[in-house]
Amino acid sequence: MPATVVVGTQWGDEGKGKFTDLLARDMDVVVRYQGGHNAGHTLVVEGQTFKLQLVPSGVLYSHVTPMIGNGVVIDPRVLIEEMDRLTEAGVDCGRLKISGNAHLIFPYHQTLDVVAERHLGRNKLGTTKRGIGPAYADKAARVGLRVQDLLDPKIFREKLGVVLHEKNPLLAKVYNRLPFDLDTVADEYLEECGPRLAPHIADTVGLLHDSLEAGQNVLFEGAQAMFLDLDHGTYPFVTSSNPVAGGACVGAGIGPRHIDRVIGVTKAYISRVGSGPFPSELTDEIGDHLVDVGREYGTNTKRRRRCGWLDTVMLRQAVRVNSLSDLAITKLDVLDALDPIRVCVAYEVDGERRTSMPYHQSEIHRAVPIYEELPGWRTDLSKVGDRSELPQAAEDYLCFIEEQAGVPATLVGVGPGRDQFITFSPVP
Ligand code: IMP
Repeated sequence: MPATVVVGTQWGDEGKGKFTDLLARDMDVVVRYQGGHNAGHTLVVEGQTFKLQLVPSGVLYSHVTPMIGNGVVIDPRVLIEEMDRLTEAGVDCGRLKISGNAHLIFPYHQTLDVVAERHLGRNKLGTTKRGIGPAYADKAARVGLRVQDLLDPKIFREKLGVVLHEKNPLLAKVYNRLPFDLDTVADEYLEECGPRLAPHIADTVGLLHDSLEAGQNVLFEGAQAMFLDLDHGTYPFVTSSNPVAGGACVGAGIGPRHIDRVIGVTKAYISRVGSGPFPSELTDEIGDHLVDVGREYGTNTKRRRRCGWLDTVMLRQAVRVNSLSDLAITKLDVLDALDPIRVCVAYEVDGERRTSMPYHQSEIHRAVPIYEELPGWRTDLSKVGDRSELPQAAEDYLCFIEEQAGVPATLVGVGPGRDQFITFSPVP
């Protein structure tokens, strides 16, 4: 499959990193197409743990060219720190390519993210406070600075001056915060970050198409997930980019006809960080069990994730919006001790049974989950290496998900390690 997209089908933290890493083995290029350092992947390779925020997972393979596409927002200080950490751990970052069109995150974006959340009070979105929303807002308002501006100090200072002329009074007069000094910010970005990133800044669209034309395999790696998508998620409790598969076209620079396979990564249950509706949320001891066994704390922010049963109303919507060809199901082993296991198959909204996603936000808030109950397997799955070794109840659970989604599950994760997975159905 020359061009494959990996997307999350829930509210993020589905464990996309594990399968992206697995798939990257057979790839020549891995491209990140949206988001910023609000994302966090944890990869466990031969006992060594790697935490990635901006660098695509493929960096761990020496044959892969990792690319950060134009759709990503980059805090260059964070990216450099991440590259340094990887280099120290023996990972070569020399092959990393960064789109010159990707937008930059500045310290004022981060401050604005924090003060805007405080301003919303109990209606806050629960953002990661990394400046993601304010940076994308500047991009849409056409006042953002891009990675390529780091290569042109005169233009950089001019543009930054225009932006600070507006941001500083906003910060000082509306939010009672100190203004940012143009020279301090510009010096740090131009003198410290620019020279470090310059060797990596490239025409990623050109390189990507050269690879596709040469018949190479390319993986498009989405951060966050379908229900955090700015257009298709549970707005306003979403991120400010488009994690859906279509976002790969815009955020990397390819047309939809190039995409051959779209893998939807689906956790065997669901988690969510931050605010927003969550029909199948569990606030009881089963929810606590999922948090504990699934280690459901943010990779970067350390926030405790809200957990609940798998919701196939959401899954079917994800299949439609992303044209999913198959599913990669993660963390099946986290359900090992639960019996029975419930799956939300429909919602009751104002007395009516709904099997597809209500489009009106307040209906999603009012949706009461309708569950089907399946027997648990009460067996440790962490050492299962083949479908034939699965207990019948686990096999039935996976087949039930396939039937509900209408697409096959090809890969199933049974533990955090690189080799803890099974191949379930063949790739369609
Ligand atoms: P932002 O992306 O920092 O603006 O946050 C917006 C919403 O997306 C918040 O609810 C965050 O918790 C959520 N979010 C952002 N990135 C991730 C992620 O990588 N995993 C899970 N949730 C995320």
